[in-house]
Amino acid sequence: MNVKIFDTPAQVASALARRVADALREKPDVVLGLPTGRTPVAMYAELRRLHAAGEVDFGRAVTFNLDEFAGVDASHAGSFRRFMEQHLFAAVNLAPQRIHFLNGAAADLDAECKRYEQEIEATGGIDLQILGIGANGHIGFNEPGDELVSRTHRVTLAETTRRDNAALFRGDPSRVPREALSMGMGTILKAATLILVAMGARKAPCIERTINGPLTPHLPASFLQLHRRAELYLDRDAASLLTTRSVR
Ligand code: GLP
Repeated sequence: MNVKIFDTPAQVASALARRVADALREKPDVVLGLPTGRTPVAMYAELRRLHAAGEVDFGRAVTFNLDEFAGVDASHAGSFRRFMEQHLFAAVNLAPQRIHFLNGAAADLDAECKRYEQEIEATGGIDLQILGIGANGHIGFNEPGDELVSRTHRVTLAETTRRDNAALFRGDPSRVPREALSMGMGTILKAATLILVAMGARKAPCIERTINGPLTPHLPASFLQLHRRAELYLDRDAASLLTTRSVR
């Protein structure tokens, strides 16, 4: 894995935004896989700024988001769809038909997962997938456990994950849905390039295991080791448990 370490979270965000901007310039119809969470917020702010300055054009791009809570529709204040509207979609020139999202309010959630998987296939696959990492090592909403599901599927959220996402639900973990829909690790690993982003000391133990540990469903991020083009964008704190040797 190609590990890049930056002094500050702001530097991570601007390097990432530049990376996305370069991808858009090289391939205007690039298919982007996008994450939610606190980690990408500053990257999205920088992309909005670059777009406003006329430096980034999303006109032909296509996006797929990683995951969504079950039982919430796109207009729900806690939905990832709303998060994306606020942080990116409303401020850039992405046509609605080019934005792809799992519908957490679909009547048949299993059919919704199949539809999403087929839609990704139909566009020819994801070119550049950006990923955050949960404090428990989850990727998208692929939670640690005895086994992982390869394709887009329904997930029961870990209690720690519900607590970590409480801010979207008025700070109350009990309001966070118990289930979600998520691309599977197999879906994610099919992307041509993966970029995992992590900031802060809380992520450091998982990042160390992601790079140096064994492949295990108990740390879904460890499966990134199988990918031929996986890049890690870390700030110093997230990288604090890596030795020089492991970074090389
Ligand atoms: C949620 C998302 C993940 C994301 C994680 C990390 O659980 N489903 O895709 O990586 O949050 O969140 P944060 O960036 O806030 O630490």
